[in-house]
Amino acid sequence: MENKRPESMERITTPELAQAFIDEQVAALREQIGGKKVLLALSGGVDSSVVAALLIKAVGQQLVCVHVNHGLLRKGEPEQVVEVFRNQMNANLVYVDAVDRFLTKLENVTDPEQKRKIIGAEFIRVFEEEARKQEGIEFLAQGTIYPDIIESKGVKAHHNVGGLPEDLKFELVEPVRLLFKDEVRVVGKALGLPDGMVNRQPFPGPGLGVRCTGAITRDRLEAVRESDAILREEFANAGLQGKVWQYFTIVPDYKSTGVRDGLRSWDWPVVIRAVNTRDAMTATIEEIPYALLGKITQRILNEVKGVNRVLYDLSPKPCATIEWE
Ligand code: XMP
Repeated sequence: MENKRPESMERITTPELAQAFIDEQVAALREQIGGKKVLLALSGGVDSSVVAALLIKAVGQQLVCVHVNHGLLRKGEPEQVVEVFRNQMNANLVYVDAVDRFLTKLENVTDPEQKRKIIGAEFIRVFEEEARKQEGIEFLAQGTIYPDIIESKGVKAHHNVGGLPEDLKFELVEPVRLLFKDEVRVVGKALGLPDGMVNRQPFPGPGLGVRCTGAITRDRLEAVRESDAILREEFANAGLQGKVWQYFTIVPDYKSTGVRDGLRSWDWPVVIRAVNTRDAMTATIEEIPYALLGKITQRILNEVKGVNRVLYDLSPKPCATIEWE
C-alpha cells in the first residue's frame, strides 16, 4: 500500500474533488475486498465515520462496524452512531455497551498514564472479543490519516498499547491514509454525513476520561458530560462551532464550599477550556465574550448536579497542555 503522499496529489477542497476521490476509492475498495468481509472499529469520530461511509458505498453489508461505548464518550455520541449508521445508512453495526466494564476497571486508578493504558488495552480486548464472534472476516479497516503516518508511524494514538493478537491479523484497509483532516471533512460532507459529525472537534482516544481528573467516578463523569454538552450547545448557538479549534470542560477531583438554598454545599468546580491552535503543539486562548461565559456559567450551575463553581482556564500551551491529564 502506498504510504507516501505523491507531490502531485491535489488537495481536496471542493465537493467535485471529493466526489472524484470517493469514486476512485469505492472502485479500489471493491477491487481489494471482493466478496469478503471487513471489520471496522467505528468510534463516530470524523476519520472512522468517513471510512465507514466509504465502505458502505463500496461493499455494503460486507462491512461489519463495531461501536464500543466505553462510557467516556460525549453526550449523545453513541446514539448518533446508531442513528446515522444503522438507521439511516443501513449499516451492519454491532453496538457494544461496555460502560460498566470500563468504569469498573478504572475504579480508584489515579495515574493519568495508567488510565490511558487501561482504556486502550480494554478497548482492544472488547474489540477482539467482537472480532472473534464474526465469521469470515479477512480485512480490518482503519481511519488512519496522513498525520498519523507522519507522526506516529501509522498508529492511531489510542491504539498505542499493542494491537490485535497474531491469529487475528487481518489485511488492512485504510482508504483515507493519504488525506489531511480538512480533506477528510470535505469527503465526509460529500458522502452525506451530518455536519455535526463531519465538523467535530478533535477528541482524545481516552475520551472524557482525561477530563475527569484522578480516579473516575460515575457522578463526576456525569458532571463532565453534562457541562460539556451545555458548553457545546452554547458555543453552537453563539456561532463559535467550527471557529474555535477545541473547547471542553474539566471537572477536577476536589471540592470547595458553596451555598445553595441557604445551606452550605461541598461541591466540584467545572473548568472551561477553549483553545486555538494549528497543530496542537502550541495553543492560544480564545477570547470568549464575557456575557456568553456568564450564560454558560449560570446554566452549568443550574443544570449540572454536584457543581458550585465555574472557572475559565486562561493558560496557553506552553506552559499548560491542552488537556488536563
Ligand atoms: P495536549 O493535552 O497534549 O493535547 O496539549 C494535544 C491534542 O491531543 C489530544 N490528545 C489526545 N488524543 N489520545 C488522543 O487521541 C490521547 O491520549 C490524547 N491526549 C491528548 C488533545 O485533545 C489535543 O487535541
